[in-house]
Amino acid sequence: MKTQAIFRSAVALGLACATSFAFAYDADWKRGRVYYRSVCTACHAAQAGGSIAPSTMTKAEWVAYLKADKHAKGKDSMKQYLSKSYRASIKAQNKAAEKFADVPDEELLDDLKAFVLKGAKDGDAPASCS
Ligand code: HEC
Repeated sequence: MKTQAIFRSAVALGLACATSFAFAYDADWKRGRVYYRSVCTACHAAQAGGSIAPSTMTKAEWVAYLKADKHAKGKDSMKQYLSKSYRASIKAQNKAAEKFADVPDEELLDDLKAFVLKGAKDGDAPASCS
């Protein structure tokens, strides 16, 4: 499938750039990607009319978006979907939520941030499919 091929090359590019990130906590963008695809995208596909790719926003827009913590047109909080309590509530049906059940909220937020910044419109490896 064409999109998969594009995704694979984005991943390959991403690997080459993985070491150029510097965070206080050594963010794991791959874990962020798994979470984004398995939890965020799973819901967007079902409830937001389709997946929302990291490349829909620039790095600066993502930073501002995550900082504002307003999600779904301001209806709820973004960070709640990264919280341990949210993961616990869906882990019976969601493997990623189960796998990352005990990851501290701040670490998962940093992981997610590393992934979306990498995949942003102006990121190292724009991810047009999420
Ligand atoms: C339980 C469902 C659900 C989960 C989980 C979820 N979202 Fe969403 N998200 C939505 C819906 C619904 C919208 C669309 C709101 C609209 O357009 O009215 C949305 C919209 C968005 C948007 C578009 C801008 C906005 O806020 O309207 C972004 C970006 C986004 N989500 C990011 C995320 C990320 C990142 C995660 C995972 C950490 C996530 N979402 C998890 C349901 C979800």
